[in-house]
Amino acid sequence: MKIGLLVHSHTGNTLSVAEQLKDKLIKNGHVVELRKLEPVGGENKNEIDINRIQFKPEPEISGFDYVIVGAPVRGFSISPVLAAYLNKVPTLKGQKVDLFVTQAFPHSWMGGNNAIKQMKKSCEQKGAVIGETAIVNWKSKKRDALIQELLTQLGNK
Ligand SMILES: Cc1cc2nc3c(=O)[nH]c(=O)nc-3n(C[C@H](O)[C@H](O)[C@H](O)COP(=O)(O)O)c2cc1C
Repeated sequence: MKIGLLVHSHTGNTLSVAEQLKDKLIKNGHVVELRKLEPVGGENKNEIDINRIQFKPEPEISGFDYVIVGAPVRGFSISPVLAAYLNKVPTLKGQKVDLFVTQAFPHSWMGGNNAIKQMKKSCEQKGAVIGETAIVNWKSKKRDALIQELLTQLGNK
């Protein structure tokens, strides 16, 4: 399959998971393109008004058999950068999409679950069909195990 990995990552945690996932998917015989969301002028971590977040060029996520979207949790919610991007995507009609987040806190109720819920809603509003979802709690003692779980869950296509 041709798989698009769309990632927002500021300090590199989400990107490092996406890179491991990319390697695994390639080993499983897929063609993978990793695209990073880079707002114009760099990211302002305090910007929560999604209308003020622009991308140039706007990363394409059409033309893939499968799309995987990864982002950090921000303020117990979807990252504004990803929210801005999903808001601009014209359509995801029929597109199969997996979602994952990384978050600092050790428990998923501390933002991860809500961020995934919001990401799911934004994608579904554009017509996507959501498959797997995963959360990596960066400060959890189980972090490495969570990453391995994610690689199994999202990487075995
Ligand atoms: C503005 C801001 C808000 C954050 N809010 C949360 C939060 O609500 N819950 C949480 O667990 N982590 C929160 N974090 C931590 C990030 O989600 C976490 O460090 C993530 O792994 C960073 O991913 P990245 O390195 O790919 O940018 C926040 C970080 C920032 C900068």
